[in-house]
Amino acid sequence: MYYSDDVIEEVRSRNDIVDVISGYVKLQRKGSSYFGLCPFHSEKSPSFSVSPGKQMYYCFGCGAGGNVLTFIMEYENFTFPEALKLLADRAGVALPEQEYSAEARRQRDLKESVREINKMAAQYFYFQLRSPQGERALRYLTDRGLSDETIKRFGLGYAGQYSDALYRYLKGKGISDQLLKESGLMQVNEKQGMYDKFWNRVMFPIMDANNKVIGFGGRVMGDGKPKYLNSPETVIFDKSRNLYGLNYARTAKKRFMLVCEGYMDVISMHQAGFTNAVASLGTALTSQHATLLKRYTDEVILTYDSDEAGIRAALRAIPLLKEAGISTKVLHMEPYKDPDEFIKALGTEAFQERIDHAENSFLFEVSVIQKSYDMKDPDGKTRFFQAVAAKIAEFEMEIERENYIEAIAGRYQISFEGLRKMVANVLMQGVARRKAPISVAQQRQARPEKEDGILTSQRLILTWLTDYPQLFATVSSYIRPEDFSDELYCEVASMLYAQRKEGAVNPAQIISHFTDPEQQRAVSQLFHTEVKVENPREMEKAVRETIFKVVEHTIAQKSRSLDPADIKGLQELVDAKRRLQEIRKLHISL
Ligand code: UTP
Ligand code: MN
Repeated sequence: MYYSDDVIEEVRSRNDIVDVISGYVKLQRKGSSYFGLCPFHSEKSPSFSVSPGKQMYYCFGCGAGGNVLTFIMEYENFTFPEALKLLADRAGVALPEQEYSAEARRQRDLKESVREINKMAAQYFYFQLRSPQGERALRYLTDRGLSDETIKRFGLGYAGQYSDALYRYLKGKGISDQLLKESGLMQVNEKQGMYDKFWNRVMFPIMDANNKVIGFGGRVMGDGKPKYLNSPETVIFDKSRNLYGLNYARTAKKRFMLVCEGYMDVISMHQAGFTNAVASLGTALTSQHATLLKRYTDEVILTYDSDEAGIRAALRAIPLLKEAGISTKVLHMEPYKDPDEFIKALGTEAFQERIDHAENSFLFEVSVIQKSYDMKDPDGKTRFFQAVAAKIAEFEMEIERENYIEAIAGRYQISFEGLRKMVANVLMQGVARRKAPISVAQQRQARPEKEDGILTSQRLILTWLTDYPQLFATVSSYIRPEDFSDELYCEVASMLYAQRKEGAVNPAQIISHFTDPEQQRAVSQLFHTEVKVENPREMEKAVRETIFKVVEHTIAQKSRSLDPADIKGLQELVDAKRRLQEIRKLHISL
């Protein structure tokens, strides 16, 4: 980070969060906060809140949250410096240039230039498609069923017959060879020097979530090879972090996203009204793609090609998506190869029907596993069910396991009870293996509910300290920052206590201390923990009881780790226990 905390805080505090977010989301006042439909996941009733007091936003549905800078980063898909720049401009704050290191400035300028060149190239290709030389390319696209509107919407173009047309065009605009080399649009070879990477191809500009052209795919018209050429990775194009079509799909506001393999699939689906389709462009889906998708949705329907390669790609994608917290289904396209061909042959309604009948990803995985067992052979059948039982045993919750046992029993020839016993056996074996002495970490894992409970109580304390600063005196006389069990909680509590000492608490500034959006989200959650109460009296009771719980937990921790020979420690513990009883009689007024 090249900006001082003071500069960041000035920009942040000069941009009122309600003002800024109102420009993107329709907000309505409700009590001391504003509410609207969350822009980071699709929902029908508003759970996205913006608090003028805290200068923070938080979604009670998907957990997205942060301060005004986080919002711009997440919404616009900006880096931190980009978000800071936008908000500085908006508030008329001049950012000190010298705070960029020389190297950072060089990188920023380079990115800016490469973006500019890609934009010029897109315009050039777009123009070529509509010129007389582009006639064949335009016909190719319309023959493939694309409407004028679609061609325009996706900015499709044509790279002319000559292998130096774009080179000459860009040189004419005064671009240096050095920058052209960085743009990903040129090739260099000893004899010919520099020449165009793309020529005589229809061009698909690849845009980032923010509608900026970051690269291209170019297709031969006909059967030539390679079928598609793609821009190489450049300073602005990282294949593992971008999804084709996301710039439109992210605003589609559907419950799920359709993930497919290629350019034409995305375009065909969008043209047919399935504007929530994206593609990972020839590369396999990565965990970064999954994280990116999770920003916009909780469910993915895979619409990979129906061939062997598509099935393998789906099997690889499912666990990555699961890891990111996305549940996945698999759409079956048979007898067609891909969404483009399917929609062309059977139309929109039939495709919608396939979406409605997309297969649960677990059942899809099982059906693939099944193919490698001989189900006519009793032995093969047993081994198949053993494999399935082992897979079902991986689910954490009993209800999940039961649901899958039921689904498998309904599909394959095995009784519910029979399969349940097999799953129980797998789980038993797992327990037997784990009988060894348990470490503290494992104990913690074994008591997730209790740990969760105390963490929630600690989060509530942090939330209330920001909602009701008058609680500080009471809370801080019983709870110290180091009493919070989680490292992040501890850090945030220290900052909050320090701010209070200096004057007023400022949760939004605390967010700025964390650079990683995931951490910012976690911190926002700390300031937005809710408890259900009916009236102010109950609220006061809840506060009292929560303070009690947190202090009690701290004492329990201490007494567990106390050395019996530590007389002083013992005395402190006795005192602490006595004070614990005082809490019950505390007068809390909010
Ligand atoms: P496909 O071979 O399935 O092509 O490749 P497609 O999408 O159906 O294309 P059309 O319908 O024949 O025009 C799927 C994706 O894999 C990448 C492209 O992103 C393509 O859209 N790919 C494919 C390449 O990058 N290079 C290739 O040579 C082929
Ligand atoms: Mn195709």
